[in-house]
Order: sequence, then C-alpha cells, then structure tokens
Amino acid sequence: MKVTLTNLPPEKTNSSCLVIPLLTSEKQFPITNKVDEISDRYIHDLIKIKDLQGRVGNTYLLHDLPNIATERVMLVGCGTGTLNILEYKKICTSIFEVLKSSGVKDILINFNSIVLEEDKQEINASYKLRFLLTAMHESYYEFNDYKSSADNKEVNKIANLSYYVADKDLNDIYAEQITIGLSLDSALTSTKDLANAPPNICTPTYLEVFCNSLAKKYKSLKTYSLGRKELEAHKMGAFLSVTAGTEQEPKLISLSYTGCKKTSAPIVLVGKGITFDTGGNSLKPPLAMRGMKYDMCGAASVIGIMEFLAHAKLEINVIALVAAAENMPGAKASRPDDIITTMSGKTVEILNTDAEGRLVLCDTLTYAKKYKPKYIVDLATLTGACVVALGHHRSALYSNNLELSQKLLKAGDASFDKAWQMPLDTEYTKQLESKFADLQNVAGSDAGSVTAACFLAEFCKEYKWAHMDIAGTAAHFTGAERGATGRPLHLLAEFLINEAEGSKNY
Ligand code: BES
Ligand code: MN
Ligand code: ZN
Repeated sequence: MKVTLTNLPPEKTNSSCLVIPLLTSEKQFPITNKVDEISDRYIHDLIKIKDLQGRVGNTYLLHDLPNIATERVMLVGCGTGTLNILEYKKICTSIFEVLKSSGVKDILINFNSIVLEEDKQEINASYKLRFLLTAMHESYYEFNDYKSSADNKEVNKIANLSYYVADKDLNDIYAEQITIGLSLDSALTSTKDLANAPPNICTPTYLEVFCNSLAKKYKSLKTYSLGRKELEAHKMGAFLSVTAGTEQEPKLISLSYTGCKKTSAPIVLVGKGITFDTGGNSLKPPLAMRGMKYDMCGAASVIGIMEFLAHAKLEINVIALVAAAENMPGAKASRPDDIITTMSGKTVEILNTDAEGRLVLCDTLTYAKKYKPKYIVDLATLTGACVVALGHHRSALYSNNLELSQKLLKAGDASFDKAWQMPLDTEYTKQLESKFADLQNVAGSDAGSVTAACFLAEFCKEYKWAHMDIAGTAAHFTGAERGATGRPLHLLAEFLINEAEGSKNY
C-alpha cells in the first residue's frame, strides 16, 4: 500500500473515495460544508431527513454526488469533532470495516479538523495519521496460516491512501508518521504471526530461523545465537534448568540493530521466549495450560521491534536478546527443591518449576551486561498475578531508575499503549529469601507480579533496568478473543523514537 500526502481541494482529486467527518451538531467542519456546497446541498438534505447522523462509529458510503469528481464520498460520524483516542480508533476501524467489503482501492482522507483530546503535551495532530495506519493494521490482520482454505472470504485491500494536510510546511512531520505507521504495520504482523503460531511449530529454533531471515532482509540487523552447549559454557544454570525436560534445543538469540555510530551505548531489550509453558514438573492444570503458546510474547515483541527499527531506519543502537526455551515436565526436568547456580554466581532454590520465566531471564539479564547497555528493558508474560492486578488494559512496569520509568510511562501514554508503575520495595524482596540458597524462585501467592519483578531486580543492580509484565496485555490467552495483540510495540516504538539521535521531539 502507498500512503501519500496531499493539499489539493476535494474537487481537484481523482481518488475513488473521499472520506470526511460528519458531526452531530448542525454546524459541520469546513471540508464537509465545502463538499455539501459543491454537491448542491446533497449532504444537508440527507441530514435534514435524519438519514445521516454524526454519532461516533456511524459510516455512510454515498455514490455519485453531484459535481464531485470522486466516485464515492464516505461520511464518518465524529460526534462533536473532539475525540479521545479510543473514539478516534473506533472511527478509523469503522472506515476500514466498510472498505474491506467494497471495491474501493484508493481513498483520500480529510481529518484536518478533527481534534484529539490527548492532543496536549504528549502528541500532536500528526499522530492522527499514525493511529489511522495502525487502526488499518488492526482491521486487516488475520492469522490464517493454518487454515486449509482461507480464500472463502475475499478482503479488499486499499492500494493508495492519500491523507490531506492543509499546511505544506508540516509535510515532513506527517511523512515521519507514515514511516512509523507502515513500519509498525510490518512489525505488528511479525510479532502477532510469531505469537499466534502453534507451539509444535514455533519452537526456540523457529524463532532463531526467523531472526536469521530478518537479518538477511535488513543489512542493519545482525544475529547469532547460543545453544545448549554455549549456555553450559556460560554456566547459565538457571536457563538450563528450565530447558532440561524438553527435546527442543534452547536458544539465547541476539539480534542487533545498528542505526548510529558504534560508540553509542545500545539499549538492550530482553524477551521471555517460553514457546510453551506446561509448568514443568509443577504441572499446570489443563485449563491453565491452554494458551501457554503465548508465553513467548515478550520474545515476539522484541523481535518485532527490531523489524520496526530496521524498517524505519532510526538512528539508534538496540540489541534484542531472546531467551527461548520450552518448559516441559518429565524424568529429566527440574524438580521443586532443586538448587541451581545462575550465571551471576547466585544460587536459587527452585520451589516451583512453573516460575520459569524469571529463571531464563535472570541469566539472560546477566549475559546482557557484556553490551554495556545504556538501558535494559525486559518484556515478559511473567505472572498470572499481573492479569489479576491490571487486567488487559495496562502493562505492569517496574524499574530501578526514575528517568527510565518516566520515559517508558510517557511513551505508553503518547502511543495509547499504557503501562502502570508498580513497586520494587525491599520488603517484597525479603519474601524471596531461601533457607538453603541465596534466593528462592517463588515467594508465596501475594503480590506475585511484584515478587517476580523483585527476583529479576536482584540481577540488574549494576545498570538502569526496567521490566514490563505483559501477561495481560500481549495476548488474550483463552476465550473467543484469543490472539496476540502486538502490545507493547506501540510503547516501545514511541520510546525508541524519542531515544533516537535524529529525534526531533515534535
Ligand atoms: N507464563 C506464566 C504466567 C502467565 C499466567 C501468563 C497466565 C499469562 C497468563 C508463568 O510462567 C507462570 O506460570 N507463573 C506462575 C508463577 C507462580 C508459580 C509463582 C503463575 O502466574 O501462576
Ligand atoms: Mn510458568
Ligand atoms: Zn511462563
């Protein structure tokens, strides 16, 4: 799909569908008034007989308006004209829902007068274009790789999207949003495809192969990975303890993006990549095990964000570390009561083999030190307790550094992919004291997301670190809505855009 900017008036364009707002009040936006005027008050007459109503989410596809060059005009209900982002996304979705089952190939959208409520400090008007493109992704994304006949419903895709920008001086800002929106589209697709793939296909090796293919496609990406032998050589006893029960080779995958001078310290992103979490010998009950293919959503996000960076060519250095393993039970698998030695030298008493995420992550976080990172952020579907605390709307954020946590929270607000900061007090860490080892891997059922984060914090004391528990936001693990959401790619993209050297901080 091609996205272009235009400042031509409606009568001078030859797109096959012009999309304009419709308000609930009698007063309409200038563009709607103009189309109405040119078409001999066609719109006005339909409003009068109440066949056109401007409620948020209403859409009307009109054909052959008098004196209008475009074949169709789509009126989109925009309420009062000032929308919050949820409402704005709703109107965008309603457009694509109609277009999907039409023959329209080219559209020209004029949202010039729409105001976003959030259009204050964090974002400006150009974000409307990015959100439009990501809403389009949401409308069109489907995962049909494993359906033998996916061709039963034909979906119309837009080939050309023109977006009206009144002031030509703003074209650069809007062009940047096109790059970001389209880069996010391909990144979201990769992230969701990886996460939705079944666990008998999407193994640690599959993730490695995917990273290799990304590195082939983009010159700015390089990759290597450590297998079982190398993990042993690095004495990653915690990582290895998780993967003991499976035939699948574990992989610690490094995927690095170089977008600016090599001397600039990288941001390291670590993703939990448990390709299936049975709980191990502390076996999950059947219903709780369903959807555990999504336990690699952290990995899928950090891989996706690397594709975003390479596609958008941001001036920044970022390294993704994927901690990929399968957590299976069995004779060779770890037992509760086992004591293992982590790469850091700290010993851990495993009291529950289902608290495996923190075990693969603690060794990966220790390994990350070799990159001398500016910041390190890990993403993990770490605890069910996080879903209890925050549901599916906000990701949990933990950090040992105020500057980093502020940046991540701000990026979440601006991209409408929100996070909420949680505590890391030493009182919680105390719950992890073990009678026989330096730490134990679980701390009772209270504050489960917090104590999991405190466990990780023990391995990150030397650098600026943040952890995001995305168990509630990255996917719907079960139920009718089940599927990956692609979160928190929007937050990460916004954060990295702000961190990038060329960032203009609009
Ligand atoms: N992958 C799960 C966390 C999870 C649970 C994510 C439900 C999404 C939905 C994690 O490995 C796990 O099993 N955590 C345990 C921790 C417990 C043993 C301390 C949990 O949440 O029950
Ligand atoms: Mn588990
Ligand atoms: Zn898990």
